[in-house]
Amino acid sequence: MNHVIAPSILAADFANLQRDIEMVNSSEADWFHVDVMDGLFVPNISFGFPVISAVKKHAQKPLDVHLMITDPDRYLKAFKQAGADSITVHYEACPHLHRTIQAIKELGCRAGVALNPHTPVALLEDIITDLDLVLIMSVNPGFGGQKFIANTYKKIKQLKQLANERNPNLYIEIDGGVDETNAATLIEAGANALVAGSAVFSSASPAGTISALKHAHSL
Ligand code: DX5
Ligand code: ZN
Repeated sequence: MNHVIAPSILAADFANLQRDIEMVNSSEADWFHVDVMDGLFVPNISFGFPVISAVKKHAQKPLDVHLMITDPDRYLKAFKQAGADSITVHYEACPHLHRTIQAIKELGCRAGVALNPHTPVALLEDIITDLDLVLIMSVNPGFGGQKFIANTYKKIKQLKQLANERNPNLYIEIDGGVDETNAATLIEAGANALVAGSAVFSSASPAGTISALKHAHSL
């Protein structure tokens, strides 16, 4: 499977959001990554439904919504209505994860689980066959522009092995500190979806950086 590139609009210029969305539309990117933060689960607040609906109006690619929020069950339907094509919830925020995943699927969305850097991959053993996507956080969630945590490689390999055995179509998505220097190594370890915020939007050529990430290959 050719890997997916998902630019994170958290790093876009919100005063020129339509311009940045159109850049992604005409680039080699596959999805829009949409980071929702509630100021409780993570120490930052990003944006909510009106912004996601506005993005949806212009986006010509699926919205990959990453919920960094406490008790996401309350809002799943509203995120679907705002335009989410996939919804990823945090393992650490969901005491009834199986129920939450089924609810996301019933809405017709791709269902994902995100793991914080300290959360072991092995905790997904009893839910892995129900998932469309696992997002491995390679920074602590809450902010763009942080340094990549190297232990992520080990987690990708563990997840890739679990996916090979139990769910070969799983998206293995990496989020945080992804750039042109580590993309090929991440793919080699088993990742097949890369989120990139600052690497794309701080670049002199955002579309060029997206293209470089898309064409990063394992040796
Ligand atoms: C962090 C978010 C990321 C963030 C990545 O909490 O989940 O999606 O936008 O930003 P970079 O690529 O700048 O690390
Ligand atoms: Zn994210």
